[in-house]
Amino acid sequence: MKIAIGSDHTGFFMKQEIMAYLREQGHEVTDCGTYSAERCDYPIYGERVALAIKAGEAERGVLICGTGVGISLAANKVKGIRAGVCSEPYTARMTRQHNNSQIIAFGARVVGPAMAKMIVDAFLDAEFEGGRHTDRVALITEIENRQE
Ligand code: RB5
Repeated sequence: MKIAIGSDHTGFFMKQEIMAYLREQGHEVTDCGTYSAERCDYPIYGERVALAIKAGEAERGVLICGTGVGISLAANKVKGIRAGVCSEPYTARMTRQHNNSQIIAFGARVVGPAMAKMIVDAFLDAEFEGGRHTDRVALITEIENRQE
């Protein structure tokens, strides 16, 4: 699967570890930065991963900042993008199955590497269930479309 990944400085080392983990599994991973542990601004990387998904350059995205919140907020500002913040695998699975999220976000200051890998596995293994969830996701899109 084509996966775009991004982080700020707080998630840099976690990003490197998750990238290696995904590549070991045969995924094609695009590193959207940041490229060092030097302090930087998370919205830049949230937007990059979201735009890669929107452009069809990647099917799924992984975002990491201190909490996962800021970087997911940035990604969610890109029209059509749904990024869910998760600290455990159950929510990671559900945000695919029910919310049809294309991006998973988590915090490098919240979860350790083993939990992060379980979160990513749960997210990538799950598929959108459709059915009644299709209408709910469509309502989210309607909200987006009502904005200027
Ligand atoms: C950086 O200090 C921190 O604010 C950022 O990584 C993230 O947690 C924001 O939501």
